[in-house]
Amino acid sequence: MVKIKMERTVREELIKQLASGEFVSGEQVGAQFGISRAAVAKHIKAISELGLDVFRVTGKGYKLAQPISLLDKSKVSAILEHRGLSNKVDVFSLIDSTNDMLMRRVPNQIKSGEVCVAEYQSAGRGRRGRQWISPFGSNLYFSMYWKIEQGMAAAMGLNIVAALAVSDAIKSLYNIEVQLKWPNDIYLSGVKLAGILIDLDGQALEPCHCIIGIGLNLKMPKESAEQVDQPWTDISCHTDLKIDRNELVAEIINALTSRLIAHQSQNSSFVKEWQDQDYYFNKPVRLISGEKEIFGLCKGIDNQGALMLESEGVIKPMYGGELSLRGVE
Ligand code: BTN
Repeated sequence: MVKIKMERTVREELIKQLASGEFVSGEQVGAQFGISRAAVAKHIKAISELGLDVFRVTGKGYKLAQPISLLDKSKVSAILEHRGLSNKVDVFSLIDSTNDMLMRRVPNQIKSGEVCVAEYQSAGRGRRGRQWISPFGSNLYFSMYWKIEQGMAAAMGLNIVAALAVSDAIKSLYNIEVQLKWPNDIYLSGVKLAGILIDLDGQALEPCHCIIGIGLNLKMPKESAEQVDQPWTDISCHTDLKIDRNELVAEIINALTSRLIAHQSQNSSFVKEWQDQDYYFNKPVRLISGEKEIFGLCKGIDNQGALMLESEGVIKPMYGGELSLRGVE
């Protein structure tokens, strides 16, 4: 246990030193932690396996191919405070999954609005049991906890609320207009930019504990891109503006918190806003559930967030977290 903790400390410290993009001497790091140069080299190899592109120049040391700006809890909190928000934010360097991290604190050690972000996820999860590739320091892995007193049924539509909040944040920081693909995807230029994973926990007639997870591609490293099994894009392909991940975390917290509060008080309808950004609106689609599929015309969503599908002249709401939607050529 002590050895694993020590290894983690050395790796986290090495990453901090490398982050600026300057050379880091293996000899000095070795001296700092009382370990051999071979041991430092092993740590560098482990760091590369997290998705960081590190190279070595004889006589100079190790360097990152691209400097990275690390997530910083105090920076996020300062921006939030400035906006009058007080969400608790935990920043992890390495974690299994930000959703799982928050779920472990349910029900007693967590409050609505608490957030977890990480530089790297070893077990990042996507919808329908898929893996979410989570290379170190390049994208955004974000989760927020929200408690719904009215129970599980009232959690319907949270995917819509979260997708609209991500859209708000991207528009406000980068002036980019994204499209939304029911039930949980954010699209840009016809391919996936971000995905949302909602985990729910609760008993009938009791409050529902919701974890809203967001994975947003910012600057996908080449090596990790090869592992992604669907067409994708990232923010850096669409803007020259600097991507400050701390600012982005604060912007998403702001957008998500205000949309969740509005949704909770039931004084907002997202139907029209969704329709304006709906990637498949009025297009022929195929709705898949396991082995079954239904063809129809996408007619947006209803007040609950269900997909409205027109099939054989009738428009019907389609519910279900395990459904997925594809376009028909
Ligand atoms: C999907 O499109 O399939 C959903 C992807 C959700 C990924 C995010 S990353 C942060 C949070 N933690 C996880 O393990 N998954 C979500």
